[in-house]
Order: sequence, then structure tokens, then C-alpha cells
Amino acid sequence: MKHGESSLAKPLTTNEHLIRWVEKMAELTQPAAIHWVDGSQQEYDWLCDELVASGTFIRLNQEQWPGCFYARSDPRDVARVEDRTFICSLSKDNAGPTNNWIEPFEMRKKLKELFAGCMRGRTMYVLAFSMGPVGSPMSRIGVQLTDSAYVVVNMRIMTRIGLPVLAEIDRGNARVVPCVHSVGMPLAPGQKDVPWPCNNTKYIVHFPETREIWSYGSGYGGNALLGKKCLALRIASNIARDEGWMAEHMLILGVESPQGEKTYVAAAFPSACGKTNLAMMVPPDAFKGWKIMAVGDDIAWIKPDANGQLRAINPEAGFFGVAPGTSAKTNPNAMATLSRNSIFTNVALTPDGGVWWEGMTDEPPAECLDWRGQRWTPEIAKQTGAKAAHPNGRFTAPAAQCPSIDAKWEDSEGVPISAFIFGGRRSTTIPLVFQAFNWSAGVYVGATMGSETTAAATGAVGLVRRDPMAMLPFCGYHMGDYFRHWIKMQRSLSTTPRIFQVNWFRKGEDGKFLWPGFSENMRVLKWIVDRVHGRAQGKETPIGWTPYYEDLEWAGLDFSREQFEQMQEVSGSAWRKELIAHEELFIDLHDHLPPEMIDQRELLICRL
Ligand code: GTP
Ligand code: SPV
Ligand code: MN
Repeated sequence: MKHGESSLAKPLTTNEHLIRWVEKMAELTQPAAIHWVDGSQQEYDWLCDELVASGTFIRLNQEQWPGCFYARSDPRDVARVEDRTFICSLSKDNAGPTNNWIEPFEMRKKLKELFAGCMRGRTMYVLAFSMGPVGSPMSRIGVQLTDSAYVVVNMRIMTRIGLPVLAEIDRGNARVVPCVHSVGMPLAPGQKDVPWPCNNTKYIVHFPETREIWSYGSGYGGNALLGKKCLALRIASNIARDEGWMAEHMLILGVESPQGEKTYVAAAFPSACGKTNLAMMVPPDAFKGWKIMAVGDDIAWIKPDANGQLRAINPEAGFFGVAPGTSAKTNPNAMATLSRNSIFTNVALTPDGGVWWEGMTDEPPAECLDWRGQRWTPEIAKQTGAKAAHPNGRFTAPAAQCPSIDAKWEDSEGVPISAFIFGGRRSTTIPLVFQAFNWSAGVYVGATMGSETTAAATGAVGLVRRDPMAMLPFCGYHMGDYFRHWIKMQRSLSTTPRIFQVNWFRKGEDGKFLWPGFSENMRVLKWIVDRVHGRAQGKETPIGWTPYYEDLEWAGLDFSREQFEQMQEVSGSAWRKELIAHEELFIDLHDHLPPEMIDQRELLICRL
């Protein structure tokens, strides 16, 4: 039986404006049916059944993987497409040199062409969602129209959706962000569908002034789950600038000491550079009584409260995490979180109806089907280099299932933030950890952060590029103005968070990581927390304060002073090169750069 069949086209809102917009969009896109999503479990189960029937989903072995499903995308639709992502502000200058810009009138004309009839033969789902707990003063509401049931079920895990959100809209005090999404593959009468419909032409479009999102051609991740990067970062960064808060690509975690002292920090690492892992980290055995609690793993909305204290919420309700590398050893909390009621995309399928990915176990399965559905064995992998899972293969899992989820993760007031951490993926130059001298110096550190590119976006992997605050692909306005906003934020704060940079990825001459990472990162976190509370030493270097060997807790880890010195080295010649790389970005941004950035650069040059 079809879920709520009779109510398929009946609006689940009394908001005339919303109803008229849905009608108008249906007229444009010509769907065969309209379904107002209520967000219920019954509806979710029915949609998953439909996805199994259509071949998009494979139901996993329910004994091992209860409530879990498996999907393979089209091999041409596997990651965010940054070169197809547009910020269509009224003036090009507002988008800035780091964003793709097309004149909004021209773009609207293009979108009209693309979306005309694009949902033919498909159902248009009307998906109301809240980023942040429903009703929190820090939350924002969007309505996504989509012709992808896969997107609907993923959004149900990643955000709060359906009736409670529609009720909030009906109360009439929320400004809704309209989001239109199509996979761009209409079906002619009688045409058979494919498991992963999409289009080779892709457009991920944002209109910052009118707060609108239009996404065409992709069903994958941040291209299609429009609450995530499109709303919660690109649109929200615009709203945040106007309203005096911050929308950041940051995890949020709480550190609890054996004495019960709780310190929350937020950390910005670029895509696939360790946010989920740090947020869910389990401290090593030697840290008895210490706890790390997760509030969020990808996005933070941060606002000063009435006392001038920054408070952060996680606008999401789930984790869309990188699967490869995730294991019971590296991230047991993630493994527990994804053990049920989760969706796996572009990983490998084992013969017993389970999932596998590189790094999940020491022993690979004797055989499986890879993310393209082809037979994979360790032998084949050795010969051809074929990966069982795509490097950007992901799990979608409910945050509430995380064993280390923080008691305050849904607190509508947010949690107090005491430190910001920036961290790129850098084989050279950047030490394991250092603390910036002050707020402006810290903003400079974040603004000039470099990182090696990863598989989270299409394009070359492993090239160092500047990724300011891990926001290069996500800042919805001029990056220079974004730095100004960071500088300005300090004025509304009574206490400013301390700012740190970390690098888990420095390599030795043998090409191996110098630092074991993962749970051992607790040693670095503890120093950061101790610095925040004025308890730990720091050595002054040209780039900031670094810990002495004695300042880190080494119990339970065999790590020599020499290894530490190698990892912490601040090399004059390497840093001179680094400074020139800073300049590349600054040349592009120069007419919008805040004077503090120029000053900080001068100071760094002097110290070096
Ligand atoms: P997005 O979801 O794309 O924003 O990524 P993320 O920042 O949450 O990255 P995630 O935690 O998923 O980690 C990405 C990759 O980095 C995985 O393959 C991890 O195994 C690896 N990684 C995470 N932490 C560490 C670490 O401390 N050391 C090393 N060597 N690798 C790490
Ligand atoms: C990222 O790329 O930073 C992600 C995955 O978190 S996506 O949702 O595709 O943006
Ligand atoms: Mn991310």
C-alpha cells in the first residue's frame, strides 16, 4: 500500500505563499505527482521500499545492519562540483574572486530553461526542513522541492523535517529559504528509470540577496542535500554577516576533565581532513576520566549571547561522513553510530549483504562488489589498483545514535565556545600544534590556511591550495569581507576564544605520517584546553606559541623528544615560501582585505 496516498497532493500547510510557490514550481518542472513530506517513520519506510523497488537501494542484511540501505551513484556523480557551484549576487564584487559568478538575470534565464519540464514522469517531494532544533531562535527553515526520494530519506537523517517544521512555517514568523532541486532526468511515458538518475550538466546555484538555492543535475551529498553546504554555509554565511553571527565549516566538541570541567571547542578542517574523527574521538587509555563529547561534525552556527560569550549550535541532525578509513580502531563511535538506520553510498557490498570499505578491517573480504557494482578481490586490487569503495564514499547516520553525543547537542541556546582550531592537511611546514598570539593573529592563521585537496570535491587530489577557515568552497560572499567579519566579531565579545592551528598530516622524509593521529590527538586537545584555562606553558616562536615536549601528556605513547622536535619544527626557509603562498590569495582579495591582515603579515615577516 502506498503511504498516505490520498494526501499526496494535498498541501500540509496553510501558508498561501508556500502553496502558491509549490504550484508555480510544479508548473515549471511538470512533475507527475506532488508529495508533501510529513517526515514520519511510516513514510520513510515506504520511501525506502520504493527505492529498493526502483533499484536505487539495496536492503542490507538486516541482522547485521538493521534498518540500513546501500546505494551506488552514477560514477559521474560522486562528489561536490566546485566548478559548477555559483554565487549569483547582484554584483560580481559581492561574490568575490574565490566564487564562480554569473549575472543573476542571466542565471535565472538559464535555470528556467534547465528546470522546464525537468521533473516529468517523477514525483516532486515538498520537503520542509529545519537547520537547528525546531523552534530554536538560532534555527533556520528551508523548503526543498526535489524529484529524488534518495534525497528525501537522506535529508530525514541529516535535518529535522516534515510536520513540526510545517507547523513552524504556519505560525508565520519564519523566513523560509526556498530550495529547488532536480536530478535533471525527466522520464518519457514508459521510459525505464535508472538506479541513480542525474545529468552531466550540473548547476549548484545560490542567490544570496533573495536567499534562494537552485540545484540541477546531481543527487550526491552537498550538491543535493541542500540544507547542508548550500543553506547552512553559503546562504547562512550571508545571513550571519548581516546579523552579526558566524556560519562555519566546523565540528563542535566538548572536553570533560576527570574533575568534571567542561570545555567546548570548534574546529575548522577542510573536507575530508578529520572533523568527524576529531568530533567523535575516544581518548587513549592513559587519559582516564577524560571524555570527548560530540555536538556536531561538520557545521557550526555561532552567535554571541547577551553576555558576549560565543555560543554554537550544530544545525544538522545527522552525520554524512567519509566511509574509507573509518574503523573500530580509528573511530569506534562512528562505527557504533552507523551500525543501524543508516544509508551507505559508494562503498563496497559484501556477499553476505554487508558493507565494507578500505580501512574498515585489517583483512579485506575475500571478494565483494565494488562501488561500481563490479567484482572486487584483494588480488584484483593489487593488479589494477581498483578501490572497493570510492574515496568519497559516505555513510548517512543519525547523530542521536552516536554513543558520545553531548547531552547539550540539541540545546537551543547552543554551547559556549572557548577555542577555535584550524587544521589543514599539510605534509610539510606546519607543526602539529601552535597557538596564535591573539584574535587578529588567529584570524590571519585561519585566513591563510593551506590544505592538500581531497576526493570530497571533483578535481585533482593532493595539491596544496589556500582554504581560508576551510570555507573556500562554502563562503557565500567576498572572502575579504568574510575576514573583515571575523575581525569585527571580536567587538561583540566579552571573552574571545583562543585560536590554534593543528596539522595531523605532517610527513617525514620516508613519506610516512609523523604523528599517529586519531585518539592520540587527545594529547593536543588537552594542551589546547590547558592553554585556554591558563594552565600550560608555551614557547614563543615566530608563528605563535608551541608546546614544550614536557607540556604534552605522553603516558601510554612512545614518542621521543626528537620525534616531537621534528614534528614541531618551524623552519625559516619553509615559512618564507609559505608567506609567498599567502600572498597569492591576498593579491586576489587585496581591495577587500581588512587592514589587520596586512599588519599581521608584516609582523610575521618581521618575526621570521
Ligand atoms: P567532510 O565530511 O568531508 O567535511 O570530512 P571531515 O573533515 O569530517 O573528515 P573525516 O573525519 O571524515 O576524515 C577524513 C579522512 O581523514 C579519513 O580517511 C580519516 O581516516 C582521515 N583522518 C582523520 N583524522 C586523522 C588523523 O588524526 N590522522 C590521520 N593520519 N588521518 C586522519
Ligand atoms: C564536505 O565535502 O565538506 C562534506 C561532504 O561534508 S558534502 O556534504 O558533500 O559537502
Ligand atoms: Mn564537510
